[in-house]
Amino acid sequence: MSIYFSDEEFAKLKNMLCVYGWGLEMLLTKLNIIRRDLSLFQDKSPIEHIRTRIKTPDSIAKKLHNLNFDLTTDNARNKLFDVAGVRIITPFAKDIYFLAELLRTVPDMYILNEKDYVGNPKPSGYRSYHIIAEVPIFYSGKTENMPVEIQIRTEAMNFWATLEHKARYKYAEHIPDHLSDELVIISEKIDELDSRMYLIHEIISLINQDVHDCIAE
Ligand code: GTP
Ligand code: MG
Repeated sequence: MSIYFSDEEFAKLKNMLCVYGWGLEMLLTKLNIIRRDLSLFQDKSPIEHIRTRIKTPDSIAKKLHNLNFDLTTDNARNKLFDVAGVRIITPFAKDIYFLAELLRTVPDMYILNEKDYVGNPKPSGYRSYHIIAEVPIFYSGKTENMPVEIQIRTEAMNFWATLEHKARYKYAEHIPDHLSDELVIISEKIDELDSRMYLIHEIISLINQDVHDCIAE
């Protein structure tokens, strides 16, 4: 099986990716409104930053090929749920669940699936909360649904995942045992670090609350 799209499929795929780009723009706007609302009006900052990305045609081709699907735009649309991706970085692990719950209430975004790799990390040590959702996009007089993979994780979890991803790439998915063992240990340390940082945050919040109460009295 070829790992290249035919010219005809490639042209169709480029159109699909363009529409997915619009879908991501709409979703990002919604998420940014949520972020600003929380910090401006609700005195909360559970979102550190948000990134979006669209898979490249090469990477889509590779994934379809690995899954034994023909290289067609229809398969890219119907079989892959992470062509459009959003990554939300939170200050603390607790914010991840807060955001997941909030995302379940966003209109015009239908949740298809959730995976909790924060409560249940992968054997690799990977931690993140995944939501697969569907976002309707209206264009050319019709509505098309775009699947999107939303990954929510802390800065520390992101640090780990980025480095581990590099290692996977470097070693073509076969990370040597000594390194993968070390990555599992670091992932546990990162979890501990997240908890300890949160504790300090809670202590600071309590002090701030006390000061606030004193001023108010
Ligand atoms: P993929 O085919 O990789 O998309 O897996 P999946 O469809 O079974 O979903 P899964 O939830 O396992 O992974 C989705 C995405 O999460 C991946 O594309 C990565 O971005 C990320 N991910 C999952 N597992 C790991 C991991 O062990 N290490 C890193 N760095 N990222 C991971
Ligand atoms: Mg993926």
